[in-house]
Amino acid sequence: MSTPPTKAQAAERIIKLRELINDYRYHYHVLDESIMSEAAADSLKHELTQLETEYPELITPDSPTQRVAGAVLSKFESVEHSQRMLSLNDVFDTEELTAWETRIEKLMPEGSKLEYFADIKMDGLACALRYQDGVLVRGITRGDGFVGEDVTTNIRTIESIPLVLRSTKEYDHLLHGATEVRGEIVMYKADFAALNAARAAADKPLYANPRNTAAGTIRQLDTRLVAARKLYFRPYDLRRPEADDAARAASEIPTHAYAYQALRSLGFLANPDAKVMTSLDQIVDFIHEWEDKRQELPFNTDGLVVKVNDRVLYERLGVVGKAPRAAVAFKYAAEQATTKVIDIFVSIGRTGAATPVAMLAPVVVAGSTVQMATLHNESEVQRKDIRIGDTVIVHKAGDIIPEVVEPLIKLRNGTEKPFKMPEFCPDCNTRLVKLKADDAAWRCPNEACPSRSWKRIEHFASKTALDIEGLGEKNVIALIGADLVKDQADIFTLTKEAVLNLDRFAEVSATKLVTAIQAKKQPTLARFIYGLGIRHIGVQTAIDLANHFRNIEALAAATIDELADIEGVGEVVAESVVEWFAEPANHKLLAKFKQYGVEPQEVKQVGGKLSGQNFVVTGSLESMGREQAAERIRALGGTFQSSIGKDTDYLVVGANVGASKLAKAAKLGTKQITETDLLEILS
Ligand code: IVH
Repeated sequence: MSTPPTKAQAAERIIKLRELINDYRYHYHVLDESIMSEAAADSLKHELTQLETEYPELITPDSPTQRVAGAVLSKFESVEHSQRMLSLNDVFDTEELTAWETRIEKLMPEGSKLEYFADIKMDGLACALRYQDGVLVRGITRGDGFVGEDVTTNIRTIESIPLVLRSTKEYDHLLHGATEVRGEIVMYKADFAALNAARAAADKPLYANPRNTAAGTIRQLDTRLVAARKLYFRPYDLRRPEADDAARAASEIPTHAYAYQALRSLGFLANPDAKVMTSLDQIVDFIHEWEDKRQELPFNTDGLVVKVNDRVLYERLGVVGKAPRAAVAFKYAAEQATTKVIDIFVSIGRTGAATPVAMLAPVVVAGSTVQMATLHNESEVQRKDIRIGDTVIVHKAGDIIPEVVEPLIKLRNGTEKPFKMPEFCPDCNTRLVKLKADDAAWRCPNEACPSRSWKRIEHFASKTALDIEGLGEKNVIALIGADLVKDQADIFTLTKEAVLNLDRFAEVSATKLVTAIQAKKQPTLARFIYGLGIRHIGVQTAIDLANHFRNIEALAAATIDELADIEGVGEVVAESVVEWFAEPANHKLLAKFKQYGVEPQEVKQVGGKLSGQNFVVTGSLESMGREQAAERIRALGGTFQSSIGKDTDYLVVGANVGASKLAKAAKLGTKQITETDLLEILS
């Protein structure tokens, strides 16, 4: 056993450890690179904690161990902002943008040329961070712009916020006295989706959007809950609150471009895409460039921010109302619109879940017409208080299913009717039940419910499952209506003659359908498992199960413990699988598949030669589609990722590739390969 360090030795070691841990944080969050593995960094933090436990008098508030406070706050204190936190005026097109420029040019000395600084507008919550002599002392929410809430304990848990500013020669003047960093706290889209997926799996009500979730998280009184959520901070402003006049402030931070550069050196991740622009044309190009590309950003954005770059001019141009004259927000076409709820009906899914759906007066949102929106479950309808007849805000982000954000209560006239969950299944009249008392969803427990049957068959035939062309919603309903099929197995008994009896089919379409079905009698095991529509089994879980059990008999015989031991399979999934295979009706279904000659392929290679390797495909491939590439990569044990990240091993570059992905890959040092390379790897 080694002798414990003396206090002097501990003090020296503590300083070194803190420096290295801070370096790790800076490289990871700001430079997007790793100087060591997360495990190694954790190990250093562990040693630091031990030394600090041994010598508590050596703990300082800026130590990386001091991010999470143990105590639960009773409330947040109000704090006055050093300088008012302003908002921005919005412009929606180039005409309004030009008008803005003309307005400010009129206030400028004759002949002077404006330079701008443009950045992405992040959709989060604004926060001011105060540093005193380089040490973080306070984090304050925007509040009403004059007074905000002191959320210091919470923001300290955000790793992308440095607890101490980094010292660099060039910007060391900012380490003395008061320095304030303003920016946006955001939750990444992927983390939000994962959070909601976990809530959906636990039958908990879903969060509305990343911004509200981030805001709600920052206002949690228990810091440990905040630390458990991933939040990020991106700065957009750097100030010297003690510099009382514009000239002095400008001598320290002359331009916004300078501020961003300094912020990076001090240890923040300022958006790498922010740029100086010398003309309105350049700004317009920037707007076009980001119109689609912004979907690829990890956080939500609804537009861009354009500011006059020179900070003396910026201040001199003054404030109108709540917004500086020298800056505007350019907003992209709305992803929200308002419309009326014509009715709310209940749709029964393949697992029996009864989902209230709003039928809407058709409205265009983000370029496509929306007529329906899921309301998730009864408690969501109650929580949002959505009534039939209400005017509501509908929202659509990317290609996500449209959602009702909220009703406009002020527009009610008293004729609106609250929604009442029916007691019986609208389709088969079976009494709806809750499987567990705290479930959010009511379910139709009738396995033979027609709605459930056709959705199960449609799911089984869907692209992600057996991929049988011609078995969409309408055809499936027609086949069930004519009593030709009752379940997924029955489709394999269909003959051209039988199908021809339906009005919907003619010689060619009937032949096509029957051939398409017969061609899928040996599906991959993963597709087959996914196609069974077992609750909580998504594509990746189906693949994991297939690789582990190799055939359906072994999966059917698995116990909860055995299942829960597999990486990526949790208790909820394990229970769901065991329940499914315990159901006698499902035994019959599997027996029928066998009888009709449907045999999922055994999985021979477990793990596979690409195990542990992550692939991203960008652009189009000549020899196969994306889905096919994904399937072939997965079949060899590799992981197909939808977007490039630190853990991506290969970026497969196809035709017509956007520059942004390549730039990102270059920055992350991801290996770029061609389609031919991929084919060789797969062969
Ligand atoms: S510059 C006067 N840059 O949007 C405030 N703001 O709607 C100047 N925001 O209050 C802010 N991303 O909270 C700026 N890149 C960005 C931004 C940004 C998001 C927020 C900020 C501001 C609000 C105005």
